[in-house]
Amino acid sequence: MSLLEVKNLCVDYEMRRGTARAVNNVNFTLEKGETLGLIGESGCGKTTAAMSILGFVTSPGRIAEGEVIFKGKNLRNFTDEQMRQLRGMSMSIVRQEAQNALNPVLTVGEQIGEVLREHGIRNKIDVEDRVDSLLEMVGISPERKKSYPFEFSGGMRQRVMIALAAIAEPELMILDEPITGLDVIVQRQLLNLLNDLKNKMNLTALLIAHDLSVIAEMCSRVAVMYGGFIVEKADVVDLYEKPLHPYSKALIESYPRIHGEKKKLVSIPGSPPHLLSPPESCLFAERCKKATEKCFRCIPEETIIDSRMVRCHLYSEEECNV
Ligand SMILES: Nc1ncnc2c1ncn2[C@@H]1O[C@H](COP(=O)(O)OP(=O)(O)OP(=O)(O)O)[C@@H](O)[C@H]1O
Ligand code: SF4
Ligand SMILES: [Mg+2]
Repeated sequence: MSLLEVKNLCVDYEMRRGTARAVNNVNFTLEKGETLGLIGESGCGKTTAAMSILGFVTSPGRIAEGEVIFKGKNLRNFTDEQMRQLRGMSMSIVRQEAQNALNPVLTVGEQIGEVLREHGIRNKIDVEDRVDSLLEMVGISPERKKSYPFEFSGGMRQRVMIALAAIAEPELMILDEPITGLDVIVQRQLLNLLNDLKNKMNLTALLIAHDLSVIAEMCSRVAVMYGGFIVEKADVVDLYEKPLHPYSKALIESYPRIHGEKKKLVSIPGSPPHLLSPPESCLFAERCKKATEKCFRCIPEETIIDSRMVRCHLYSEEECNV
């Protein structure tokens, strides 16, 4: 049994101008100990998909269809209180730009202490010991616990957020662009830290990132999102060496490399689709060099080829009934 199974997940944002489907028929699994990468252009639905797993989608958003199965249980049947408990014990998230989420008027130690007390650790000495060991675990000297967030660098604040996410030793951690916006040396240190934690805690993780090299380093499998759909899912090496979907190919070609043969960077013309009343077609059709008449007529279904998944008419014989 997979640790997490996301089945036909659809998430809508109800807007005054109409309904925007931000996540559309998304399917993926996460096996225990695995790290799955999630990539795609800004606005393609990565954060929304991740938040749905944690039950954090709130108005104007709502899960319209589908299932989120964690350890065999459908989380859509869980009450708010059950979800709160699950988030405290078994799942956690390091949010996009999390480093800015620390409370500016409490010291770092006080903030970690507060979360520990929420987890039932009440004895003052136990709390202090745990604060020290958590800071040490993320490479910060416990002496710095009396500092305020503004006295920390961005990288240190992100380490604190990772410590907070690791408090309950969760089975599943969602990392939503955990190193974006930091300089490359700090990024490297944080990646090493995340790798260490992953191994120490046998963590299962969903890693959202824009940087393809980060995904290559941390993940064995990767899912590519476009316009709310997962358009391709494959082993990282297979995807990077031989992307099947035209969007995956364009995404990889637009990414700079330092090593190997110098290649011209290709940008993807056009812009991502508008999610309010999208057309009944492949959402990439307007930007795709390989688009045919069929692509403008119907939405491609998932096709499995050599144990990878691709959503593109180039790989499917199926006729559309429109
Ligand atoms: N609270 C909200 N209300 C209305 N629309 C929203 C809300 N949050 C997200 N959206 C829309 O849902 C779509 C997906 O957004 P999401 O934040 O999931 O994308 P993303 O892939 O994480 O982007 P990024 O890479 O920029 O973080 C976007 O079109 C966005 O405008
Ligand atoms: S379905 Fe058609 S438009 Fe869409 S990616 Fe494939 S070839 Fe391009
Ligand atoms: Mg996001």
